[in-house]
Amino acid sequence: MQTPVLSEAIRRKLDREKRIPLFRQVYEIVRKFILSGELKPRARLPATRTLSKNLGISRNTLLMAYDHLQSEGYVVSLTGSGTYVSDTVPSLTALRSDRAGNMADGESGHASVTLSSRGSALLANVHASAVQWGPFVAGIPDVSMFPHVVWMRMLRRHWRAPDPQLLTYGDGAGHYALREEIASHLRLARSVRAQPDQVVITNGIHQSIRLISSLLADHGDRAWIEDPAYWGARTVLKAAGLQTIPVPVDDEGMALEGPRMDEPPRLIFVTPSHQYPLGTMMSLSRRRTLLEYAQLHNSWIIEDDYDSEFRFDGKSIASLQGLDAHDRVIYLGTFSKTLFPGMRVGFMVLPRGLADHMVTGMSEMDREGRLMEQAALADFMAEGHYTAHVRRMRALYSGRQRILRRAIHDVFGEDWPISTQEAGLHLVMHLPFNTDDIRITTEAREMGISLRPLSRYYASRKGPPGLLFGYASVPDARIRPLFISLVPAIRAALIHAGHRL
Ligand SMILES: Cc1ncc(COP(=O)(O)O)c(C=O)c1O
Repeated sequence: MQTPVLSEAIRRKLDREKRIPLFRQVYEIVRKFILSGELKPRARLPATRTLSKNLGISRNTLLMAYDHLQSEGYVVSLTGSGTYVSDTVPSLTALRSDRAGNMADGESGHASVTLSSRGSALLANVHASAVQWGPFVAGIPDVSMFPHVVWMRMLRRHWRAPDPQLLTYGDGAGHYALREEIASHLRLARSVRAQPDQVVITNGIHQSIRLISSLLADHGDRAWIEDPAYWGARTVLKAAGLQTIPVPVDDEGMALEGPRMDEPPRLIFVTPSHQYPLGTMMSLSRRRTLLEYAQLHNSWIIEDDYDSEFRFDGKSIASLQGLDAHDRVIYLGTFSKTLFPGMRVGFMVLPRGLADHMVTGMSEMDREGRLMEQAALADFMAEGHYTAHVRRMRALYSGRQRILRRAIHDVFGEDWPISTQEAGLHLVMHLPFNTDDIRITTEAREMGISLRPLSRYYASRKGPPGLLFGYASVPDARIRPLFISLVPAIRAALIHAGHRL
């Protein structure tokens, strides 16, 4: 294939409506041409400068696509001469399995699929991004800092002479030693009232919410959820057939007022320690009101304490569960933020009367497993590696947040509103009324930068505009230059909305 033909083929296949970043699309298109043999070894790829003009996308985007192709061995770049298809191209099997997964109906020869109404509702509002690593991806810790050598040692210890009890199905509750470690850590760090028999290990907060919904709520029951909220929680509640009721959040947390108070929900989902995504903390008086309300109306409160280990100002406030005298709170935690999301280990701390039911439910629905990892994690905690890692990461993320705040204020002025708390893995840069935050995030995506538009976190998907920056995984030195590279897009959107700078 000649380079002009390739350039035209890429242009035809690019789809700017897709949620897949452009650099990823270019990478996929070229990769498929190479694997199918349409691009032969030693064929030259178009120069990024020319391609950038032909396609009307930035050269950085193309450089990133070529970089990916090179790092996976599909192409080689010869300084001063260009980029060529490598002599040693990977096998076609990858392409075949890709085809099976990615092609549209008809193209693949598969029959078209009729989804259930539940399935259609679930897929109607998808939020999860295909990009889960890279600059400013929200909610991702710096996984490159995870002490993998220590982790390997913990795993090796168990694999050296595997205990058959750790290789068979679990009992639904999880590895006991890990439950003990979690309970004692939470008692100390979060004032959670937890004994090991109240702790159930899950594969993360998503699964915890799904189990709670299945066991404690019926189809059509009301579930209150903060507005804005973590989209994942809303999706799981909806997929369980619950009627989700968005409840506005103010400076004190979920606003407990108005006519909705007369229609008590079965479940109430809150992030009291660090509201997601706005970053506020639920006040003590609001906590008390919520607990009293739940007790009065027999509602269950789901406390999602996803990232509270990362407070940078030392003002950590105890969990809501720790204040609950009537066993209405189910406390949820996860190792996704403190260690790494791919670990898929989370936990629930359940009121005493609920724990056995949940364990049975878990074992019937999900057949719990991965006990070797749980045993390794228990050792990791018992030997102090967990607390040491969290302490190190807290200092790292605090510094990164500071760098990003400084950059925002230097460019847009000291008074520019940013989410308030010194905590967590992300911050929100608020934008004035009418600014199109989606336009900014789309442009950022084309540059290979993942921002999330705040407006989409609202149930209406049209809330006040803002930009979520996940700074935790971005190396210190890259934060400022990356932010600066976004400034033209932000400025353009502000001007377009009629705001003067
Ligand atoms: C508020 C909140 N809860 C839960 C999760 C997901 O937790 P897990 O990985 O344990 O499912 C996230 C992930 O970003 C989150 O932001």
